[in-house]
Amino acid sequence: MKKKYTILLLVTLSIVLCITLAPTLTAKSNNLGAAQFELKPLPYAYDALEPYIDKETMMLHHDKHEKAYLDNLNKVIAKYPELYKKGLEGILKDLNSVPEDVRETVKNNAGGVYNHEFFWSIMSPEKDQTPKGELLKAINKDFDSLDNFKTKFKEAALGRFGSGWAWLVVDNNGNLSIISTPNQDSPISQGLTPILGLDVWEHAYYLKYQNRRGDYIDNWWHVVNWKQVENYFNS
Ligand SMILES: [Fe+2]
Repeated sequence: MKKKYTILLLVTLSIVLCITLAPTLTAKSNNLGAAQFELKPLPYAYDALEPYIDKETMMLHHDKHEKAYLDNLNKVIAKYPELYKKGLEGILKDLNSVPEDVRETVKNNAGGVYNHEFFWSIMSPEKDQTPKGELLKAINKDFDSLDNFKTKFKEAALGRFGSGWAWLVVDNNGNLSIISTPNQDSPISQGLTPILGLDVWEHAYYLKYQNRRGDYIDNWWHVVNWKQVENYFNS
């Protein structure tokens, strides 16, 4: 009789242990099986670009807008985990290889994450930098002068109807050009290498500048990280 009770007790304990551990084991398995893109922190404080770009805009822009692109991308990745292995650049450079039923969603959201990470990287709290060296020579060669380049870039940024981006890109021959893209389309999907980019979605400036996109563009030059732009150009 005593042996019977001991067996019953052991069985009960085993069941309780299994129930207790089950969620942990499932969660670990899920974590291992479904890799996800993660939101990288801003490379500086939210208020680092004040007074030109305000803290509240940066918080919303990074924590809400970029996070939303990331979450949407991860939902798709859960369905097609092989996309994770390609990385953001790999996905955007080869959109035709993305399954057709999710291609538009992937383009918009992988672009949203990639473009914003790029955007944070080409701004800096070290204000009022200027382009130098080989980059300045290339700007002078392709646009006559830095002032003329800024004028053309502003035209592209103002001319982008609705939401999108203005870019300074390098083509396969090493020449610079200014383009703009709609939505979250990225230059790398066109075989171009961005070295400078400006987000002209209203979420990037509306809190501080409302409808004055031109003022936002003019002030943005104060926080451009030309050292990083030069790094992108040289590499
Ligand atoms: Fe944005």
